[in-house]
Amino acid sequence: MIVLRSREEIDLIRAACRVVAEVLVRLREAVEPGVTTWDLDRMAEEWTRKAGAVPAFKGYAVAGRVYPSALCASINEEVVHGMPSPRRVLKEGDIIGLDFGVVRKGYYGDAAVTVGVGQVSAEADRLMQVTADSLSRGIEQMRLGNRIRDVSRAIQDHAESHGYGVVRAFVGHGIGQRLHEEPQVPNYVASGQNPRLKEGMVLAIEPMVCEGTWEVEVLDDGWTAVTLDRRLAAHFEHSVAVTPEGPEILTVAA
Ligand code: MF3
Ligand code: CO
Repeated sequence: MIVLRSREEIDLIRAACRVVAEVLVRLREAVEPGVTTWDLDRMAEEWTRKAGAVPAFKGYAVAGRVYPSALCASINEEVVHGMPSPRRVLKEGDIIGLDFGVVRKGYYGDAAVTVGVGQVSAEADRLMQVTADSLSRGIEQMRLGNRIRDVSRAIQDHAESHGYGVVRAFVGHGIGQRLHEEPQVPNYVASGQNPRLKEGMVLAIEPMVCEGTWEVEVLDDGWTAVTLDRRLAAHFEHSVAVTPEGPEILTVAA
């Protein structure tokens, strides 16, 4: 069942999303050579609690495994769900995906950005730009009269037109009173359910785009997803509401 949110509920989701966006703005300013992903995780949790919210990923269980951290920090060939560690030190030229969610007054927000550490290669820059643009193309399709697959197709077409692969193993999702709600939002044209977009739907759109193959594997830690060919991946995400006036991106800083 896809829940349609009232104006009041969207206000609550927006307030959670604002905390997410503000934490991500501050995290990207903190990214520099020498910083560990552990440091970033500590900052994210502290700023979130000061803002009156709670990190949403910490303690979240997927298939019986509990995620231990507030932040997902995925470096280079890591696609998503990189676990913060005091031993992961950022170095010049890395790219890092920062994926973060909070819950506030029972409502969730979820967003991600990928940023360069210092100066990065032109190839890395292009991958990040195309992934961010794929997210924008997908969001543009979140209009009444369209369906989920219109969003998926716009994301896939943009990424593939630049020669990149889109990850199949992880998808976007509805968000609201849980981190993951129906419907799923694939970043590629999939078969199966294709719901019509309705006023009050809130979706987390999150393309994961690869330089090479879109195939991924999960490392022995049970979480970290990496590209099978170990080439770079980038990830951008916004939580977005469908309104009669068009898409409203909720994960924006005040
Ligand atoms: N943004 C990611 C997602 O929607 C983050 C989830 S990490 C988890 O799946 F630990 F909470 F699973
Ligand atoms: Co998400």
